[in-house]
Amino acid sequence: MHTHKCCLILLFICVEGVFGAAPDVMKSVTEGDSVTLNTDVTELQRDDQILWMFGPKETRIAEIYKLVIDMFNSHEIFGDRLKLDNQTGSLTIRNTRSTDSGLYKRQIRSNRGNSDKIFNVTVYAHLPVPVISSNSSQCSSSSSSSSSEQNCSLVCSVVNVGHVTLSWYKGNSLLSSISVSDLSISLSLPLEVEYQDKNSYSCVLNNPISNQTQHLNITQLCKCPDIPSRSSSVTPSLIYAVVGVASVAPFFLRQI
Ligand SMILES: *[C@@H]1O[C@H](CO)[C@@H](O)[C@H](O)[C@H]1NC(C)=O
Ligand SMILES: *[C@@H]1O[C@H](CO)[C@@H](O)[C@H](O)[C@H]1NC(C)=O
Ligand SMILES: *[C@@H]1O[C@H](CO)[C@@H](O)[C@H](O)[C@H]1NC(C)=O
Ligand SMILES: *[C@@H]1O[C@H](CO)[C@@H](O)[C@H](O)[C@H]1NC(C)=O
Ligand SMILES: *[C@@H]1O[C@H](CO)[C@@H](O)[C@H](O)[C@H]1NC(C)=O
Ligand SMILES: *[C@@H]1O[C@H](CO)[C@@H](O)[C@H](O)[C@H]1NC(C)=O
Repeated sequence: MHTHKCCLILLFICVEGVFGAAPDVMKSVTEGDSVTLNTDVTELQRDDQILWMFGPKETRIAEIYKLVIDMFNSHEIFGDRLKLDNQTGSLTIRNTRSTDSGLYKRQIRSNRGNSDKIFNVTVYAHLPVPVISSNSSQCSSSSSSSSSEQNCSLVCSVVNVGHVTLSWYKGNSLLSSISVSDLSISLSLPLEVEYQDKNSYSCVLNNPISNQTQHLNITQLCKCPDIPSRSSSVTPSLIYAVVGVASVAPFFLRQI
């Protein structure tokens, strides 16, 4: 019992030592939205100093001291998208970009005490709506059985995504899913349904903060052109049309 406790404490110290201070606050935002990093200060005192730093090099990006704001060279990274609140020292990033992701450190130096806090900001890309299409190669290969026994082969896909999961749902239950952590990758996930299936299916793309859904319309997508009676009745008229064109063409040529 005693040793157990010791180990836990030791482990905690090791983790802290190896990886540096862990972030205190996680912030997730969708690209283009604003995010505010709060200081927990309700009203700044004249001698309070609040300093904001960003990234692995701890680049100074904003400071308020003696009620005077200094934005350093932050415009080089953020343009005019950073705003420091002169009442609270809170930092707001407007119109966020993926490059704003990272660690933000906030230092408060005050007569009432010092405090440091690390914010981990993650900016997620806008998710596209996934696209459901029929896998027609699969459809035409199974021509012998009648349409009621056949399955419709579908695929749901997205392009240029990262840190997402793509899933098929039947009603509210998860059928299958695929995840990627890489940036800018294309994903596709297959689904087989019967033509007569009356369940509602949907394909959902999500990241940790948002999702996009595409509902499957079986009647619209599962149209196989290989129903035997149809194809046999189409063939003769097609041949007729081709012969007709072939025999008419020389006639026109002669007239000119
Ligand atoms: C704080 O900022 C607001 C506008 O953002 C300004 O009107 C006000 O004068 C500023 N106060 C101080 C003390 O600088
Ligand atoms: C910050 O959050 C992101 C997303 O959750 C995570 O991948 C990353 O490892 C975190 N960084 C740190 C230093 O904890
Ligand atoms: C269509 O189905 C075939 C056979 O299952 C498969 O090899 C192919 O990758 C599928 N096409 C797409 C776009 O998923
Ligand atoms: C048709 O799909 C269902 C699941 O949707 C599967 O159980 C069945 O084996 C499939 N049949 C064929 C012929 O692929
Ligand atoms: C998609 O997001 C909405 C809220 O925006 C949530 O209610 C719903 O459960 C999410 N769906 C999935 C499948 O994650
Ligand atoms: C599915 O597609 C068919 C044919 O395009 C259309 O008539 C029907 O309204 C659609 N159903 C839904 C629920 O959108």
